[in-house]
Amino acid sequence: MTSSRSAPRLASRLGLTERVFAGARSRELMRTVEAGLALVEAKLAAELSFADGLADTTSRYLYEAGGKRVRPMLVLLTAQLGEGTGDEVIEAATALELTHLGSLYHDDVMDDADVRRGVPSAHAVWGNNVAILTGDLLFSRASQLMARRGERAMRLQADTFERLVLGQLHETVGPQAGDDPVAFYLQVLADKTGSLISAAAEAGIVFANGPEEYVPAMVAFGERAGIAFQLLDDVIDLSPDPDQTGKVPGTDLRAGVPTMPYLLLGQRDDAGSADLRRRIDDGVARVAEDADPALLDGPLAELREHEATDATRRLARDWSLQAIAALDPLPDGAVREALTRFAQAVADRSS
Ligand code: IPE
Ligand code: IPE
Ligand code: MG
Ligand code: MG
Repeated sequence: MTSSRSAPRLASRLGLTERVFAGARSRELMRTVEAGLALVEAKLAAELSFADGLADTTSRYLYEAGGKRVRPMLVLLTAQLGEGTGDEVIEAATALELTHLGSLYHDDVMDDADVRRGVPSAHAVWGNNVAILTGDLLFSRASQLMARRGERAMRLQADTFERLVLGQLHETVGPQAGDDPVAFYLQVLADKTGSLISAAAEAGIVFANGPEEYVPAMVAFGERAGIAFQLLDDVIDLSPDPDQTGKVPGTDLRAGVPTMPYLLLGQRDDAGSADLRRRIDDGVARVAEDADPALLDGPLAELREHEATDATRRLARDWSLQAIAALDPLPDGAVREALTRFAQAVADRSS
């Protein structure tokens, strides 16, 4: 790993950590979570080792390129509502991050994304087949880890993965006749992203033997924070700054994925909005026929400045507030405060 690659990774990780643990009473909790993250990192490195030389290289590739470790952080945070960071907690956090990582290999094939975590995406380096199979290997490793922890762990893994895949599938096929496009898309976000973030919040309680009565609250919290997180991902998709995001601006829209700013643009009936939408649709159709994707640069820059993108940010904040409301059954304390800040940070981020 080069220093130029590790710098943005640390910057984005530290940014999140600083925000989540900004409160005065969070110092000790921060040290605990950071220590746990170091254990997850070591476990990830160990799990990403294959006797097969190609598999070993391809599976480590995106892990070494960076990532914020949002899901392990959440597992470690909610674990502190139970008995804290034990081996089971570290294994569950590792398994969920491996699932996330595998989904990125597949997602970049599906979205035809050239760049991930600041490096060329896996399929750009090795082709689609190797990228897909590497994702499958990571899912296998995640399942092996969870299988050691018994039926509840396996069920959490399997149910979460099924929802994630269905979310990706529904995004791919799009709304059907009679579906409201915005409501349909919110369900896609809940399934493709909320599912895993919700599983992370739940896993901390379950694998640290925390109070069972907190589980529904954590499931709701993770799901809503996950929707807020993914809404911001849609805004970040329009960001002009690939150095910060580690992705190519407009990847999703150029590939014809109708993100929330685009859907909200479609709800506006003024002539300027209708014209911008027409130009985006036209550009997407031409890119699908192999035209230069740069022809969408202008329209996407306009969408970035459009009120529909602000409305997406506001929607993310609404979901963040709903996530925070789900924390009601939790006792007041450093963990609740950190979870509150976590929900605020994911809905107001730039990478
Ligand atoms: C990207 O997730 C994919 C989504 C579900 C939005 P992250 O933004 O958590 O990606 P990394 O792990 O930090 O690269
Ligand atoms: C990724 O969604 C969701 C999963 C990987 C399950 P996106 O396609 O919107 O995420 P990015 O923008 O590529 O990270
Ligand atoms: Mg994508
Ligand atoms: Mg995608």
